[in-house]
Amino acid sequence: MLRVFNTLGRKLEVFEPVNPGRVAIYVCGPTVYDARGANLFQSPTGYFAVMLDPYEIRKDFPILSTGVIYLDNAATSQKPRQVIEAVARFYESVNANIHRGIHRLSREATEAYEEAHEVVARFINARSWREVVFVRNATEAINLVAYSWALRNLREGDEVVITVMEHHSNMLPWVAVARMRGARVKVVGLKRDYTLDYEELERALSERTRIVAVTQASNVLGTIVDARRVARLAHEVGAICLVDGAQSVPHMPVDVRALECDFLAFSGHKMLGPTGIGVLWGREELLEGMEPFLYGGDMIREVRYRGGAIEASWNELPWKFEAGTPNIAGGVGLAEAVRYLQRVGMEEVRRHEEGLVRYALKRLSELEGVELYGPPPELRCGIVSFNVEGLDPHTVAALLDQRGIAVRSGFHCAQPLHEYLGLTEGTVRASFYLYNVKEEVDALAEALEGIAAIAAQAAGQRAL
Ligand code: ALA
Repeated sequence: MLRVFNTLGRKLEVFEPVNPGRVAIYVCGPTVYDARGANLFQSPTGYFAVMLDPYEIRKDFPILSTGVIYLDNAATSQKPRQVIEAVARFYESVNANIHRGIHRLSREATEAYEEAHEVVARFINARSWREVVFVRNATEAINLVAYSWALRNLREGDEVVITVMEHHSNMLPWVAVARMRGARVKVVGLKRDYTLDYEELERALSERTRIVAVTQASNVLGTIVDARRVARLAHEVGAICLVDGAQSVPHMPVDVRALECDFLAFSGHKMLGPTGIGVLWGREELLEGMEPFLYGGDMIREVRYRGGAIEASWNELPWKFEAGTPNIAGGVGLAEAVRYLQRVGMEEVRRHEEGLVRYALKRLSELEGVELYGPPPELRCGIVSFNVEGLDPHTVAALLDQRGIAVRSGFHCAQPLHEYLGLTEGTVRASFYLYNVKEEVDALAEALEGIAAIAAQAAGQRAL
């Protein structure tokens, strides 16, 4: 599955296949171990690097064998067999409700679901799994903070600061609660190179700022935001910082302690997991101080009927925020997705996508009539948005679809960003993941070359 390189000096010595039978491997300084702790290789002087082999990884994704060139990963990722099987296994042999039964199946389901929180907590380096709340998706995670924290803490005249790059999910909840509270939402713009304008952000912050909500990676431009810098700036004025990790957590190492933020929201379905499961991570003391978002079963400690009135107290974290029967199988599937990503290594995922973006930008920038948007590859995640001269984005996407290539077109739930950039019809977006390969970029470039030529020819005929 992976190739391991001895990186001594400049000489790269390749060991492969390193793990027949798909056993996870771990690199510890100059030693490579398999999952059982057996020593696979030792280098007396050099260090090892693991490299992802996308051609091997593709074999784990049944849908890719249908021949589709899937470049719509920012909308949702495909699922490996390991995740599909983990969900099926749960339904086939464990299924029961959690925290509600003393029978064996209920105990096993509870254990699996709680363990999933621990797996996610370790993945993002949370201090405790109590800080990991399972929700439906990043959208619900952000709404939870907007309603449970902001609605109760914002006062008239307070300010929420966001960026113009935000997905509607990290804009509209703030707009809604600000309206209810008489607060204001300030929107920070970009520099000419499509990176966040940090100076403008500093100017936007004041003692009136209560929360700064920022994406760590734009779902349109791919722009990576220095979220730690944003969190520090927010804290300097006494505000809290929420990071939308929907496009970052699946694609690069994310460590909530290193980020120094207060909340992080992300979705499972964009990181090889099932749909309908997402995560809100929050600092424990903030979550402890918040009222629940949804009320019902499992989020209570007790509910009493006293003197004709109902009195309730809330469950401990994270259950206080997980009312009702949760997506138990989804949680189990998400944990399996995280394990898969950890076996590959998030540094490797990032490195692979950066390489693909670099190559895609090179190929697409050589094409007449194709306009590209976004920062250089080292400052963007695996996303390339573009337009073809003379064609609207949906037509381009439909023509690509006819050639077996799946991309997204339109505003990508970020209409204000497109307006800000003057792209009134939107963009076409190709978004990559760990299983995409150079040949797929070649197919995209070749298809676009043909589409751009047809568009240019049609424009020429109209001009006659
Ligand atoms: N938010 C997802 C996207 O950007 C759906 O496509």
